[in-house]
Amino acid sequence: MRHFTSVRQLTDLEEAFAAAKYVKENPFADQELGKNKTALLVFFNNSLRTRLSTQKAALNLGMNVIVLDVNQGAWKLETERGVVMDGDKSEHLLEAIPVMGAMCDVIGVRSFARFESKEADYDEVIINQFIQYSGKPVFSMEAATRHPLQTFADMITIEEYKKTAKPKVVMTWAPHPKALPQAVPNSFAEGLTMTDYEFVICQPEGYELDPKFTEGAKIMYDQDEALKGADFVYAKNWSAYNDPNYGKVISYDRSWTVTSEKMALTNNAYFMHCLPVRRNMIVSDDVIESPQSLVIPEAANRIVSAQTILKEILKEL
Ligand code: CP
Repeated sequence: MRHFTSVRQLTDLEEAFAAAKYVKENPFADQELGKNKTALLVFFNNSLRTRLSTQKAALNLGMNVIVLDVNQGAWKLETERGVVMDGDKSEHLLEAIPVMGAMCDVIGVRSFARFESKEADYDEVIINQFIQYSGKPVFSMEAATRHPLQTFADMITIEEYKKTAKPKVVMTWAPHPKALPQAVPNSFAEGLTMTDYEFVICQPEGYELDPKFTEGAKIMYDQDEALKGADFVYAKNWSAYNDPNYGKVISYDRSWTVTSEKMALTNNAYFMHCLPVRRNMIVSDDVIESPQSLVIPEAANRIVSAQTILKEILKEL
């Protein structure tokens, strides 16, 4: 594997889950692979889990790690080509990227959707520039439209906890005060439609995701109906994808919050969320604190997910 930007690259899921299981059981077995190799983790946006888990994964593989928070201490970066740089931005991304590439062997990039241009977001302009100009393998730590390391961790978690071969997994929209990208639900849909699980997405009208990610999923608009018989409830907020509301919040409807009453409709489902989560907007305190909540093991599996992918990249260096 050279670059990693989509969970669809895991074409053999059984093999990917077996590789993840090996990494989880033998976290320090591949330290020679990363010896004298440096991972540069570039953050254009905030992070807790991705920052910690990817560093830990790289350290487990024997790598050196450099973390760069672009907005804290680096020069302010211009990202548009053709701009007359007479404002407050001192450096262009097109110089910064090859310089970053010169300092490392592998680059992780976090760059969220900016909601300034749907086309630029969905063309993945920032991470694609890293792929084009860094000269190094690049992996996504959440780009504008996908969060594949999160989805792989989610899928590993479902594999670990499922009680039947084909569990019913329901991804439900839930309310949030701010406009959030579609990267996590896009990626989760992309991953879950690769499985033979029963996969349902439920959302209010107007929150349809890009069909290129959801093809194969059952789409529902009645949350109570969707939750019936669910084995896993994956809650997430996302902003509208369709024009003219791209990147906007069009509902704050708290009847979509995942409560114990909602969970009572399920098949004693496990609750999942990628975190960070807004309590009592997305999920009630009692649900996230219940024994059925998987949010902590799901977050811990971020190490396994990142380490499995980094290992594959290191093998080809
Ligand atoms: N789930 C996730 O990516 O968490 P962070 O934004 O804290 O990295």
